[in-house]
Amino acid sequence: MGNAGVNGYQQAKYRGMVSDDNALVKSGRKLGIFHIAAAKFVNAIERAAVWALSDPKAPPNYYLSGNYGPVDEFGPALSIPVVGAFPECLNGEFVRVGPNSKYKPVANYHWFDGDGMIHGLRIKDGNVNYVCRYVRTSRLAQEDSWGSAVFLKIGDLMGKQGIVWSNIFKLRVNLSILDVSNGIGTANTAMVYHDGRLLSLSDGDKPYAVRILEEGDLETVGRLDYEKELNHNFTAHPKIDPDSGEMFTFGYTTIGPPYVTYRVVSKDGKMGDAVPLSPDRL
Ligand SMILES: [Fe+2]
Repeated sequence: MGNAGVNGYQQAKYRGMVSDDNALVKSGRKLGIFHIAAAKFVNAIERAAVWALSDPKAPPNYYLSGNYGPVDEFGPALSIPVVGAFPECLNGEFVRVGPNSKYKPVANYHWFDGDGMIHGLRIKDGNVNYVCRYVRTSRLAQEDSWGSAVFLKIGDLMGKQGIVWSNIFKLRVNLSILDVSNGIGTANTAMVYHDGRLLSLSDGDKPYAVRILEEGDLETVGRLDYEKELNHNFTAHPKIDPDSGEMFTFGYTTIGPPYVTYRVVSKDGKMGDAVPLSPDRL
């Protein structure tokens, strides 16, 4: 999927982070006895639904097998073999992100459902290091806490079964097994570099900022809300004006008006006023 080149291995600026999100992303949630009992109860319902509704003879999901199969985090692998040569003037990190499911889906799966994993090539003086790291989203941190796939997937929404899986997800939210207040996005769709920050994006959430470490390793800093100015989803496909340095972006939702909101982020990372484009209908 999307990628972005970061010139000259600049260390990014990370302003406007949501501090609570950082804590969540880094540590996961603290789980109490009530949460664990409630989770076991819902898991039992889910297992019964899987037994009743799933086809045991169904072939493996195309997007979870073969070349699309998930891979583990890796590296950084230092000085990987290079066929040919990189120009010595080419220095920086080339990154790409794509879906890579960490936990086996319980019911169904769509290609777009996987957790965002970034593959990075650190290129310096003709030398190349390789790394791949998950984006530490709120969603992934919580699935790490539970040790399994517990969030609703796009693939779950297909057919009549979708009513069952979405109600199980709602039950988990209503029983506080899951916290959706910090978004449910996977940051798996595309990356952009703006205002000294490398962002990993998915259409249904806010951006996640990622820091590039020495030797090319990647570390999720947190979910970005532009000092609380961003209060809606942020497209995975913003565009940057090469002359002005402004980033043009929008967010959409099906939940309520405005369904589409347009924004401009200045060269130095200041988010302009929200412009509702579709206040009444989608
Ligand atoms: Fe997209």
